[in-house]
Amino acid sequence: MEELKGLILSGGKGTRLQPITFTSAKQLVPVANRPVLFYGIEAMVAAGITEIGIIIAPQTGAEIREVVGDGSQFGAQVTFIEQDEPAGLAHAVLTAEPFLGDNPFVMYLGDNLLQGGINDLVEAFRTGNPDALILLTQVADPENYGVAELDGERVVSLQEKPPEPKTDLALVGVYMFTAAIHEAARAIEPSARGELEITDAIQFLVDQNHRVEPHIVKGWWKDTGRLEDMLEANRLVLDTAERRIDGEVIDSTCEGRVVIESGAVVERSTVRGPAVIGAGARVIDAHVGPYSAIGDRCVVERAEVENSILLEGSSLTDLRVRVEASLLGRNAKISRSEGQPSAYRFLVGDESDIGVI
Ligand code: TTP
Repeated sequence: MEELKGLILSGGKGTRLQPITFTSAKQLVPVANRPVLFYGIEAMVAAGITEIGIIIAPQTGAEIREVVGDGSQFGAQVTFIEQDEPAGLAHAVLTAEPFLGDNPFVMYLGDNLLQGGINDLVEAFRTGNPDALILLTQVADPENYGVAELDGERVVSLQEKPPEPKTDLALVGVYMFTAAIHEAARAIEPSARGELEITDAIQFLVDQNHRVEPHIVKGWWKDTGRLEDMLEANRLVLDTAERRIDGEVIDSTCEGRVVIESGAVVERSTVRGPAVIGAGARVIDAHVGPYSAIGDRCVVERAEVENSILLEGSSLTDLRVRVEASLLGRNAKISRSEGQPSAYRFLVGDESDIGVI
């Protein structure tokens, strides 16, 4: 078999994560203080795939290029491929055709996280040698996913978000393809939502009697497209954190699996793990509860937070009520306003979502 290449999709609109995605790519939102995208790149490298193409959107591509670099920090060679519009996953495949050539490849959605990586999947593809291999998992609400119907070891049909799903097997955001997918992606028409759907391209392969095999995932899988999924992914990854305290801890208690990066200061505070506090952050007279990821240079002062993600430079100060299940964008500030009249004062961007008590 020709060398496997990797294709990571990091374009898209990211409407469900606005306003964060107005200024940044959702694939760069940190999970346990590392961009979601990094987990996908690392999963590929761990499976021996080092020639990786990353699809980027014109608006957010520059930032992704900068953060990922040439891929050498992961032991990979990364090629960036700009997709001029988010016209669907199969459109992304066509956009990447010059990079992929005739090679088989693994396609990975850049906002997805897969426990245990992709080694099993790559192994199954190499031994079974099918034309395509799709990753599936049982879900409680298949009507919200691409759903597969099987006949033994073969996939016989695929539907995108069917109102009445035939099975509860949802497509996970990782796929393995041979070059046959290019012809399929060219053959299909845009769907009702105007996108070239990868499910339609795979269905085309099935209809042309190509062998499409299923592979059921064993561990958890998370698509981080919405806030609640992002927070859950953060919890799942923090659950695997190991205690490490490199920063300065003064008159404070750090319980359980707590990571405090160097240059961070925790003073007169409690940090209850699993939690991570980024480099240069300041946690003063505060409480950081389980499943919090506090980014680099954040400030939590006279405030309490748990089950939340704070992007770099953001701050919570002088709050009377605990903050939870929240996502703060870069340099966002929440503080108590002093003086009269006693009132909430907001400077809030489009599509923000704020809950007060
Ligand atoms: P989605 O999350 O399905 O789409 P989206 O990013 O447009 O988000 P939303 O529905 O909130 O508007 O995309 C899955 C992944 O694939 C994600 O990492 C973005 C990427 N993608 C592309 O790279 N190109 C595309 O044309 C599309 C549709 C998605």
